[in-house]
Amino acid sequence: MKEQIHADVERIMLTDQEIQARIKETAERLDVIYKDRNPVVVCILKGSVVFFADLIRNMTSRMELDFMSISSYGAGTTSSGELRIIQDLRTDIQGRDVLIVEDIIDSGNTLYVLKKMLNERNPASLNIVTLLDKPERRVAPIEPEYTCFVIEDEFVIGYGLDYAERYRNLPYVGILKRTVYEK
Ligand code: PRP
Repeated sequence: MKEQIHADVERIMLTDQEIQARIKETAERLDVIYKDRNPVVVCILKGSVVFFADLIRNMTSRMELDFMSISSYGAGTTSSGELRIIQDLRTDIQGRDVLIVEDIIDSGNTLYVLKKMLNERNPASLNIVTLLDKPERRVAPIEPEYTCFVIEDEFVIGYGLDYAERYRNLPYVGILKRTVYEK
């Protein structure tokens, strides 16, 4: 089925079908690793919520879910590396296998700090799965263990990703028209 393209979208980068197919593959890989480990699978709100929902439904491993809401200090389009926890995990992750689910890694500052913070709680393991990775933009020394798509440095929205809180509900990942954020 042809996707209906939103008027603010320059072009679709990843279709719903492409995303679903890659998530299925990634979930199968993760099931091999986590089958007998009852991991705590962590959704980093808000951008990851759509990816998280699809990923966990493609996995068959026994798991527990938890949610964390963080925000980086400062305004602008890049994160600063200082994190504020808006909502912390409810699970005690000491000795647990933890899988962080992210929508995008850009500068890497958010995950670098988050990983350090969570490692202080002594989990048995702490891995990251991301839907999108923009390695060109990396500032902090962090690499996700599992990546669905490596993408170019474009302003992407949809499938959970926003611009000024809009477009998260688009079923695909699209490139936002410059006119939308330059006006
Ligand atoms: C996005 C994304 C990552 C972070 C990546 O979150 O979900 O957490 O930015 O950027 P970085 O690698 O440069 O640190 P955002 O702060 O936009 O919040 P949201 O998920 O609620 O949209």
